[in-house]
Amino acid sequence: MYESEIQRRRTFAIISHPDAGKTTLTEKLLLFGGAIHIAGAVKSNKIRKTATSDWMEIEKQRGISVATSVMGFEYNGYKINILDTPGHQDFAEDTYRTLTAVDSVIIVVDTAKGVESQTRKLMEVCRMRKTPVMIFVNKMDREGKDPFDLLDELEAELKIAVRPLTFPINQGFQFKGVYNIYKQNLELYTPNKQTISESVQLEDINSRELDTLVGERDAAKLRDDLEIIAGVYNPFDVERYLAGELAPVFYGSALNNFGVKELLDCFVEIAPSPRAVQTLEREINPYEENFSGFVFKIHANMDPNHRSCIAFVKICSGKFERNVNYKHIRHGKMLKFSAPTAFMAQKKETVDEAFAGDIVGLPDSGTFKIGDTLTSGEDIHFKGLPSFSPEMFKYIENADPMKTKQLEKGINQLMDEGVAQMFINQYNNRKIIGTVGQLQFEVIQYRLLHEYGAQCRWENLSLHKACWIESDNATELEHFKKRKAQYMAIDKEGRDVFLADSGYVLQMAQNDFKDIRFHFTSEF
Ligand code: G4P
Repeated sequence: MYESEIQRRRTFAIISHPDAGKTTLTEKLLLFGGAIHIAGAVKSNKIRKTATSDWMEIEKQRGISVATSVMGFEYNGYKINILDTPGHQDFAEDTYRTLTAVDSVIIVVDTAKGVESQTRKLMEVCRMRKTPVMIFVNKMDREGKDPFDLLDELEAELKIAVRPLTFPINQGFQFKGVYNIYKQNLELYTPNKQTISESVQLEDINSRELDTLVGERDAAKLRDDLEIIAGVYNPFDVERYLAGELAPVFYGSALNNFGVKELLDCFVEIAPSPRAVQTLEREINPYEENFSGFVFKIHANMDPNHRSCIAFVKICSGKFERNVNYKHIRHGKMLKFSAPTAFMAQKKETVDEAFAGDIVGLPDSGTFKIGDTLTSGEDIHFKGLPSFSPEMFKYIENADPMKTKQLEKGINQLMDEGVAQMFINQYNNRKIIGTVGQLQFEVIQYRLLHEYGAQCRWENLSLHKACWIESDNATELEHFKKRKAQYMAIDKEGRDVFLADSGYVLQMAQNDFKDIRFHFTSEF
């Protein structure tokens, strides 16, 4: 019924290691979509390096990030939704969740730095979910790695087959452009931040024209390179890309607006529109008439005078309408929303309707929790909002006995919002907060005080990983839990979690208890 609307939607995220050029690329994509008109208009929600320990500064910047959380724009008949992800790696958990709401991903890699840690980790999430990915090798205007070496590195480090769809002619000062293998044309590079490059149709790579355009030496090199590509790599297979097995690779310079249009044009053509999503009960097809969606992110307004949040809902099927009753499955209640927002051209606007693939922002004051399902009425539960083992752990203690209730409430709400994870140690009944970075501890402490009037204290806890455990062998599971009693905890859903204090201990446990499966994410 809404087929054409849904088919033209492309909802994706750009991921990269900080500084690879995500913000710059986002901005250039918005320029193409006419969503902004001058470069520099996108204020990065990236937390400046200088501010890593100054988290009030981060808060100021977070204010900006609501507006840039989702950036919707129209391009060549397509409706594009870019979901922003926090640049700071301490907020990686947010990024993981955002990745559950996208239909594909563009990875930005710096040509000089290659694959960096953050990219590797985020790619693991994509691989787990079989999300189709495209790679943009950025900063070709600078000296970097040999493109063939980099392709090998991408394949080895990201554990995905790659296939170049454009290929550079030199890089750094000598950079002359890229040959678009996909469209068979040559894009000539002129260092310029605003204009689109000069494009020459060049079906026959052996034509003399190439020599005239880039010089004989570079023309010969390009012909050799393309021959190697044709020999080494299989022809590009869209189906394998859609299955998350093969990543097309593009080269360019986001800062110079070069190679970006090639990426975007290919992206809208081959990237998937919303696809079927699994719920606990059944698979939901995006083209079903009835609305369904899930909350993947909750953005708190940190101003203590206006304590409200925005719950971000990814629409998985049908059409969402303003002022229509929808069922909040966890509460079993019908709710309607008079002021849902969509995010177009960097502005938050009230919308009357939105379709599968879109994100709507619902004003919220504590009704929603990450992972909540909303539907036209059917009782279904979306799965696929995994928690990952945190990297840092601390016991949380009450520092103001008069405010126990407030602390309790604050912690629970912050956990529902997904700020961090909480485990309860079954041995001493103490609460453990697990995060991916030090900053979250500061965020939690600050917010508990300012929003709930509660005070907390942290006590260090040295743990290697939290593993969700399960087994078909009930006796062995019981035996394990007894043996490791001090290290057993439950997560917020009541699932068993083993807190391994070192890699060695974990390995020994895996060796000694063969019937127990240890998982590093809560989804298995
Ligand atoms: P991020 O969001 O992934 O963290 O990266 P961002 O786009 O902010 O880019 C990081 C730095 O790299 C910026 O410089 C940006 O201008 C630069 N950059 C991005 N794309 C290119 C490119 O194609 N070529 C070159 N040479 N540089 C590029 P900065 O000095 O850190 O910030 P700014 O002062 O320029 O904003």
